[in-house]
Amino acid sequence: MNLAQNLAYTPDVETATAAARVRMHGHYKDAHWRTLAPYIAAINQLKKDKNAVILAHNYMTPDIFFGVGDIVGDSLKLAQEAAKTSADMIIQCGVHFMAETSKILCPDKKVIIPDVKAGCSLAESITGADVRRLKEQYPGVPVISYVNTSADVKAETDVCCTSSNALKIVNALGAQGHDTVIMTPDKFLAANVAAQTKVKIIIWDGACIVHERFTAEDVKRLRAQHGPDLKILAHPECPPEVVAESDFQGSTAQINDYIKAHKPAKAVMLTECSMSDNVRAENPEVELYGTCQLCPHMKRITLPKILHALQTEGPEVVIDPAIIERARKPIERMLALS
Ligand code: 13P
Ligand code: SF4
Repeated sequence: MNLAQNLAYTPDVETATAAARVRMHGHYKDAHWRTLAPYIAAINQLKKDKNAVILAHNYMTPDIFFGVGDIVGDSLKLAQEAAKTSADMIIQCGVHFMAETSKILCPDKKVIIPDVKAGCSLAESITGADVRRLKEQYPGVPVISYVNTSADVKAETDVCCTSSNALKIVNALGAQGHDTVIMTPDKFLAANVAAQTKVKIIIWDGACIVHERFTAEDVKRLRAQHGPDLKILAHPECPPEVVAESDFQGSTAQINDYIKAHKPAKAVMLTECSMSDNVRAENPEVELYGTCQLCPHMKRITLPKILHALQTEGPEVVIDPAIIERARKPIERMLALS
């Protein structure tokens, strides 16, 4: 294996990456592009050689999202596609819980995350032991866990959810006769769902370090600054008072779909920065203002680390097979209900 790849910007590299550059819609200036394109070309070649697939979350930077991602989307879509892939190797460009979800759904495949330190404040806020204690405290009450949790937490969970199907999952349990559910670990997602359902929700005290920073004052200031044409789209990990002041709430994919369907003249997305960059590239006619926050975990994933991951086929996500067996059930239940 040639780890010391020639990463020069050659005419061949220029040709191989031309279509990806068009998709980025002028996001990178020439000098910057010349440093990125050789990585994009090398990664795409190695993917073919090794029958690997890159699953890239909407929060990946445009070089990854448009340059090397084979399947791009929100947490739900990445899980759905992982379950279907025929590739031998999955390179997860996102955070660790997403790679674990892929491994749980594809235990026989090699699942690789380019930086194992790409964590998540929500996933770190709860353990499997915490869920066991909740179940002792509230016997018979089903546990819904956001996919932003570890495999250990999923193994203790009845059904998973993502931000795009959380309300649907809660209502589905309600329709099965549960008037109360436990929802972990995001207190804001749970509160935003609670505002839309009759099912009583017992809430865990976790939060996303990115979305908890948005305030209702931010929303009011943006409206005053940009006028009534501005559409404000919030991720449901934002505090409920922020969502209440916004025009729309949804997962990263649902926000993306809203922009594509409605083409508002002006919009702000209250979510992670790179998502705005990617949506802006695909919707140049929409004026997207840059009020956003960076997720330090997502930003650990870079082109050089992806190339290294493909070359070395690591770091691989390893989960105890007994945990995989138990953690798969709540994810499969969620996929069936989605
Ligand atoms: P989505 O499922 O909306 O992509 O959200 C994942 C996430 O981590 C948001 O912070
Ligand atoms: Fe976790 Fe928030 Fe980063 Fe999403 S944005 S991965 S929820 S810390």
